[in-house]
Amino acid sequence: MTKREELEAERVALQRTLDGQRTQAERNRLGQFATPPRLAASVVESALKLLPSTTRVRFLDPAFGTGSFYSALLGLVDSPHLRHAMGFEIDKEFGLTAAKLWHSSGLNLHIADFTLARVPTDPAAKPNLLICNPPYVRHHHLDRDVKMRLQVTVKHRLGIEVSGLSGLYCYFMLMSHAWMADDGVAAWLVPSEFMDVGYGQAIKHYLLRQVELLRIHRFNPADVQFEDALVSSSVVWLRNRQPMPDQTVLFSYGGSIEAPATERLVSADELRLERKWTRFPTRAPRAESACARLGDFFVIRRGIATGANGSFIMTREQARERGLPAECLRPILPSPRHLATDEVLASKDGAPRTEPQLVLLDCRLPEDRVRDEHPPLWRYFEKIRPDVAGRYLCTRRTPWYAQERRPAAPFLCTYIVRATARPFRFILNHSQATAANVYLLLYPKPFAARALEADPGLKRQVWQALNRCASNTMLDEGRVYGGDLHKLEPGELARVPADHLLEVLPTLPETEPAFRSLFAEAVVRDAHPRRRVAVGKRVRRMPTRRRRPAD
Ligand SMILES: C[S@@+](CC[C@H](N)C(=O)[O-])C[C@H]1O[C@@H](n2cnc3c(N)ncnc32)[C@H](O)[C@@H]1O
Repeated sequence: MTKREELEAERVALQRTLDGQRTQAERNRLGQFATPPRLAASVVESALKLLPSTTRVRFLDPAFGTGSFYSALLGLVDSPHLRHAMGFEIDKEFGLTAAKLWHSSGLNLHIADFTLARVPTDPAAKPNLLICNPPYVRHHHLDRDVKMRLQVTVKHRLGIEVSGLSGLYCYFMLMSHAWMADDGVAAWLVPSEFMDVGYGQAIKHYLLRQVELLRIHRFNPADVQFEDALVSSSVVWLRNRQPMPDQTVLFSYGGSIEAPATERLVSADELRLERKWTRFPTRAPRAESACARLGDFFVIRRGIATGANGSFIMTREQARERGLPAECLRPILPSPRHLATDEVLASKDGAPRTEPQLVLLDCRLPEDRVRDEHPPLWRYFEKIRPDVAGRYLCTRRTPWYAQERRPAAPFLCTYIVRATARPFRFILNHSQATAANVYLLLYPKPFAARALEADPGLKRQVWQALNRCASNTMLDEGRVYGGDLHKLEPGELARVPADHLLEVLPTLPETEPAFRSLFAEAVVRDAHPRRRVAVGKRVRRMPTRRRRPAD
């Protein structure tokens, strides 16, 4: 065993011990999920290949951990080719462990917050090889002031506005830019999410306009790279150089970095037009089609996020035992895995005929009135308060126990699925039950609601038509997570093509000329601005008009 191999074996053992001393919540808070050694070596090796072979490496890892990338670098570069190496690590224990482990190698490790570090002004001191697996800390774990500081810094350094929904890894990528030497290379091991979601726009803007984006490799989400963190990962390679107008980017997918299952060159123009980069390389960019979409027929909302389902959702029996007042209880559907069929029947009182029979505790009375008027409910709130009232969603509601308004919807769609034969299920709901955020709720727009009211049988036809939405187009619109989990946000479900719904609705008696024109007008009026939608045989340009549909 070489000295470096011995140190690497020691590092892996120390990493395991340090991970074991932290709870999952603590590790989430600082995004502490180490890169497996083999993956670290292949990221470093692939990035080194992008530098001229004579280059003396100036290395930076701004989220160092115990140093998986640095260790790999030492295994690949001999000391004359390594000019200097620097790292940042916010966690003292990780930092001290790494400093001790690597002190003889000349590493300059700062036990500090990288986002607060001063950017070197001397160009010769700037790193030409930046490798990082940045902390994947979701936005709601970022303190408001910290978030604002990060946004201001990125705006100041790059002129890019970052969405408040961005995770810490986005700020790491953008803030590191100022650190890089001209023509320096970076490799970022990041969640693939940025390629598809709204907040990823800032990263995509940066990658297309401020650097030469060289390659993105996306691992197969079924092959989770980090045993302990369920994220689907990608590696992004870039060079700090202004992009050429005809820039092309190598997109690869599956297999390994060295031997991907598929790959394709994608032009920057294609990337500018396509919202969802995870299409590449397996599929071509989507054509802007002139079809109707689900959002033309429905207002789509995510189900209720209670912030503490275990406390706010209970069986009828439990609510009775706790003496909770009926006026604060609303029927709510059980999760899709508890639905025996995709049709929810209702009792006379509107409750769903499901097993279990659940209710949502939803009270809008202020605390003093609950205390005076409903003692058992007050006792229950007092019991759950220590555990629940301080949770993120509860702190954003007044009073903390009030729930969002989500009337019962006649159609629902499952929100998170695995890509099986029929991943997304549409549910036909006859009950007055609301639903939690494991569902998306589809509320017919006024013209569709009128048609449904006029013909009770139509509801079933619409449901059957919904179930004919092609699974692959739905998966295409959604986003993919580690473990092959797919999610569809309301806006994404709204974009799913739905020409076949136009076949169902116009078969009504109301589709005589008068209704047809009413229907056509409604489609045009309610649809998304500036998009073209097929109405019968005609294709009409959408008027540009903002409209906020009623909840
Ligand atoms: C995803 S881990 C990567 C660790 C290591 N580079 C690897 O690949 O195994 C991210 C590391 O960044 C550290 N970290 C989190 N926030 C940081 C910050 N603001 N500045 C510096 N390090 C930070 C965490 O403690 C964690 O060790």
